[in-house]
Amino acid sequence: MTTFGIPAKAAIFAEYKSLKELLQIYATDEFRNNEILHIGGGSNLLFTHDFDGLVLHSAMKGISRYDKDDNTAFAIVASGEKWTDFVEWCLKEGLQGVENLAGIPGEAGASAVQNVGAYGVEAKDVIHNVECFDTLTGKTIVFSNEECRFAYRDSMFKHEGKGRYFVLRVSFKLSKSSTAANLEYGPLKKFAEILGRTPSIQETAAEIIRIRDSKLPDPAIIGSAGSFFKNPVVSSYFFNEEMTCKDPEIPFYQIDRHRVKIPAGWLIEHAGLKGYRIGGAQIYPKQCLVIANTGEATAEDVVKLSQHVVKTVREKYGVVLHPEVNFIDSSTEVTILGSGTSKGVPEVACACRVCRSVSDFDKRRRASALVKTHGLNILIDASPDFRSQALSQDICNLDAVLLTHSHYDHVGGIDDLRPFCAESALPIYMKKDVYDDLGKRIDYCFRENPYPGVPALKRVIIDGESPFFINGLKIIPINILHGKLPILGYRIGDFAYVTDAKTIPDEEMEKLKGLEVLVINALRPRQHFAHLSIEEALSIIQQLKPREAYLTHFNHEIGLHSEFEKLLPPHVHPCYDGLTINID
Ligand code: EPU
Repeated sequence: MTTFGIPAKAAIFAEYKSLKELLQIYATDEFRNNEILHIGGGSNLLFTHDFDGLVLHSAMKGISRYDKDDNTAFAIVASGEKWTDFVEWCLKEGLQGVENLAGIPGEAGASAVQNVGAYGVEAKDVIHNVECFDTLTGKTIVFSNEECRFAYRDSMFKHEGKGRYFVLRVSFKLSKSSTAANLEYGPLKKFAEILGRTPSIQETAAEIIRIRDSKLPDPAIIGSAGSFFKNPVVSSYFFNEEMTCKDPEIPFYQIDRHRVKIPAGWLIEHAGLKGYRIGGAQIYPKQCLVIANTGEATAEDVVKLSQHVVKTVREKYGVVLHPEVNFIDSSTEVTILGSGTSKGVPEVACACRVCRSVSDFDKRRRASALVKTHGLNILIDASPDFRSQALSQDICNLDAVLLTHSHYDHVGGIDDLRPFCAESALPIYMKKDVYDDLGKRIDYCFRENPYPGVPALKRVIIDGESPFFINGLKIIPINILHGKLPILGYRIGDFAYVTDAKTIPDEEMEKLKGLEVLVINALRPRQHFAHLSIEEALSIIQQLKPREAYLTHFNHEIGLHSEFEKLLPPHVHPCYDGLTINID
């Protein structure tokens, strides 16, 4: 059911032909108790593993037409219709607007989620509204074009709406016209010039299909997911100063005075990767933006090749490419960016043997962690050492930040999040007291007309009680006490991160049962009024019984790392800066 043609299994699969059938599925235990993935035509998905949840697919069919006036008609298409069948139908009906989107694989529902686009037109240009099923209320809801917040290959259905809304029908506002609407794309302009007249919608669609066939592989023959990467956006300054000197011929599209969009395919080709292969995955020679499955590609081949592309293009041009393809990947990789307490280790001006140790294991920056899962990079706490942590871990992208509390050693690096706010505001999740504190402490970030260059942050208040979702990923807040201060830990799947705890109430302990990996603070052997001691942390680990536990947020009193790790039970390990923990 995916165009890559790389096998993967779902634990459960369900398909519905009507809203009634969807409601029946919605009422089942399988729906309630599983991670849900709603797919369309599978033309933009890469399953890196089997999917241990419920995959849902719309088989809702039907296209209807309502004439508004002499010039305009609405075409309403059910989500399970093939996109190409819908375009074909519009051409036959003499409706203008989607002819440039001919030949795009996938289904009609996904056109709204992904805001599909090609040859100068995006779905958002013609979408009137989108009817969805709301899994939170169990009711249908209609979103206007504006409410969908469409952007380049993006919409709210990929962010806060992800997992919550299932598209049932999309309504397109089209013109009653037999001639093409948009001939701005270079080769189409030429096509019209050769014809000596404006081509009809049918002629335009045929020309588009001819152009597509000459560049893009036919998914029925060669597996791929179309464009693998998005075209990157860089600042005009960077483009003029750093890129054109390397190659004055770089094609670009000026978005506004400050920003330029560059074709990723050109960068990949000119980084010397045309036709480059890893296993059965290949950079498609006719269009380098595509990764093709030449027959026997595994998901691992594709992932490795995409990483190689990102690395090579970055080395040559200094531009980071981001995938357009959705990685369906529930494995989790946690990197401990800092394992030290508020003063860090070594402590300034301390001459103890731990602070004088030359071992990297004894150099502990202020506590924070990076969690990579479901294609997202999530930072937990922005420590004052964030800049050096990001540089040493080569962090190129962040999708969200979770804050545990507002003590300086956990938020002092917020200003250094600026590189991750360039394209859009970075969402940062926190409780109301943290929101208020930051509002005072770094008020300059949140003014109505801020100084240009301050980090663009989207503060999201969480109540600390209910789970919340980041782009469809469920996050469970854990309410703990740091001395007397109520703060948060976080559980993401089978991983939990608890720092600065002194007490974990019984009902919150329940939320931490059944973990694969627990990271928990343990300041030092001696008691402390606001932090767990080593012994107290070990006692909590014994009660929770995670498969593996890692201690963090140490001061120098724990001794040398090499000696300390020998004192711990076999499934408990001390964190160190740069430690990577993998959970499958
Ligand atoms: N180019 C190269 N080498 C390549 C590929 C492209 O030099 O291997 C150059 C081209 O010569 C041209 C420029 O890059 O100067 C742009 O190429 P093209 O017009 O083919 O478009 P694109 O930016 O590569 C985007 C969409 C396609 C869409 C086309 C046409 C994205 C990520 N991709 O590709 O969408 O069909 O424009 O509008 O925006 C898809 O999403 O699956 C898809 C195929």
